[in-house]
Amino acid sequence: MKNIVLFGGGNIAQAIVEGLIYAGHQKNNIFYVDRNPKNKKILKKLKIRSLKENTSLKIDLFILAVKPKDALSAYQEILKDYKNPKIVSLVAGIKSKKYLEMNKNIKFLRAMPNTSSRFNLGITALYNCTFSRSDFKKIVMLFKKIGIIIEVEKESKLDNFTGMIGSGPAYFFYLLKSYEKKLIPLCDGDKNKANYVMVNLVKGIGMSVENNKDLNKLIAAVASKKGTTEAGLESFKSNNLDKVFEEGISAAIRRSKEISNEF
Ligand SMILES: NC(=O)c1ccc[n+]([C@@H]2O[C@H](COP(=O)([O-])OP(=O)(O)OC[C@H]3O[C@@H](n4cnc5c(N)ncnc54)[C@H](OP(=O)(O)O)[C@@H]3O)[C@@H](O)[C@H]2O)c1
Repeated sequence: MKNIVLFGGGNIAQAIVEGLIYAGHQKNNIFYVDRNPKNKKILKKLKIRSLKENTSLKIDLFILAVKPKDALSAYQEILKDYKNPKIVSLVAGIKSKKYLEMNKNIKFLRAMPNTSSRFNLGITALYNCTFSRSDFKKIVMLFKKIGIIIEVEKESKLDNFTGMIGSGPAYFFYLLKSYEKKLIPLCDGDKNKANYVMVNLVKGIGMSVENNKDLNKLIAAVASKKGTTEAGLESFKSNNLDKVFEEGISAAIRRSKEISNEF
């Protein structure tokens, strides 16, 4: 997979491009198609070239990274200009059937990554539709450059991965906002200092989970009987924080399934 095109150069495309560059993928072999001036500027700064200015190139892979509402027209644009393209769709919700109905001969698969790909800490769920086994292996290798991959056997499971993995980082950013709100006054209003503290907290949590997979044991190691942590955790429990959090994830999964019925 030498020449890659990100069709749609927004949030997730930028995370993937940065991750690939960091992993050593040649910038020269990454191209974009985008209409948004702000995103174009960011991609140019990353020294990624526009496909529109390099139309005669052989393209090995298109990565479709536009919002669901734009996906089918963007897909048609690719089909119009390229014969039998290989396409990886990152688009939430829209099922492979929709794309393959328009052209049965294309090599197509769906992937659900997340923005941590930027730091090569991504998680990408992959569902192969029509790629040959050997080409699928190449896609696996490509996404392994920017994190870990999970191969999904059933397409319906991609909706769950969309709600859990694609959206996943945002849930924790959201929770961290409450933490930050309490932390900033403690840091004398210094947002940078609060950020510095939060970064270490989150990195430490990551290392702890890597070290000890039992979350109950990790909690027990912090909370002592009648101590401060226990008081905090009891309050979370009595306010059903776990249920609220789980319902949030379920809502995202439901939305992913709804999107497939909208297009
Ligand atoms: N963001 C994530 O964390 C994440 C994670 C996993 C999967 N995804 C999936 O990835 C897709 C993209 O999400 P995103 O957050 O990266 O969206 P985004 O930031 O809005 O980026 C999409 C970009 O594509 C451009 N575009 C759309 N149609 C185009 C066309 N026909 N020609 C040229 N440019 C076009 C958009 O321009 P305009 O702004 O002018 O419309 C925009 O710059 C979504 O389907 C989402 O489900 C996202």
